[in-house]
Amino acid sequence: MEIVTVVRPDAESASQVVADRFITLVKANPRATLGLATGGTPVETYRLLVEAYQAGTVNFEDVQTFNLDEYIGLAADHPQSFRYFMQQQFFDHVNVDPKRTHVPNGVADNVDSTCAEYEALIRDGGGIDLQLLGIGHNGHIAFNEPGSLLESRTRMVSLTDETIENNARFFDSREEVPRHAITMGIQTILEAREIILLALGEAKSEAVDKLLYGPVTDAHPASALQNHKRVTVVLDAVCASGIKQLADSL
Ligand code: PGA
Repeated sequence: MEIVTVVRPDAESASQVVADRFITLVKANPRATLGLATGGTPVETYRLLVEAYQAGTVNFEDVQTFNLDEYIGLAADHPQSFRYFMQQQFFDHVNVDPKRTHVPNGVADNVDSTCAEYEALIRDGGGIDLQLLGIGHNGHIAFNEPGSLLESRTRMVSLTDETIENNARFFDSREEVPRHAITMGIQTILEAREIILLALGEAKSEAVDKLLYGPVTDAHPASALQNHKRVTVVLDAVCASGIKQLADSL
């Protein structure tokens, strides 16, 4: 099935589309398994979800969550770890059961076994109902950098120089950005029953263009989403205006 694209005028209204999809799902299935993402892009989405929770619109008591990735070497209390991000942006402000929130362990003694355990936890938990994704400028999804096999699973990866450069904005210096991460694989992501990808701003236009209209190739990991039957790509107008097929209809 064709990827559905949704364009909204600005970042807030685009984020609202994503938040609403999560709210609708959790209302229909209070025990849903949510796949979550970090980065600058989903911050507004989490704010809207917290707002909806505080307004009594949605209840996260029985959901379970799995995050896409984590830096190797950063403990949960490190301010740049993705576990810390999730606590700050979302988990600490809603009634999710902490034991049912999962983020890969970036300081595990045995990385291979922690990756295998993560896959087993997802599988034993019944699989992911709705996976939130961002996209990197280079087409990465989670930390699946170009060259990642489309059949890859949760594993340790090296970050590209471009990703290290992009993520340096969250750290005091480039040197502090970890060089490795644990990430769900592309195949792990594709096994989610539904995927919603959010991209904001013109810097993401080219990556989204290739995701939607380019060939399915390891060189652009997000293109693998073309092989999934239920994907929605949500964009703000600035991002869409840099994509020829979408700009024409704006
Ligand atoms: P960003 O990262 O939301 O910080 O732009 C997205 C990504 O790299 O997947």
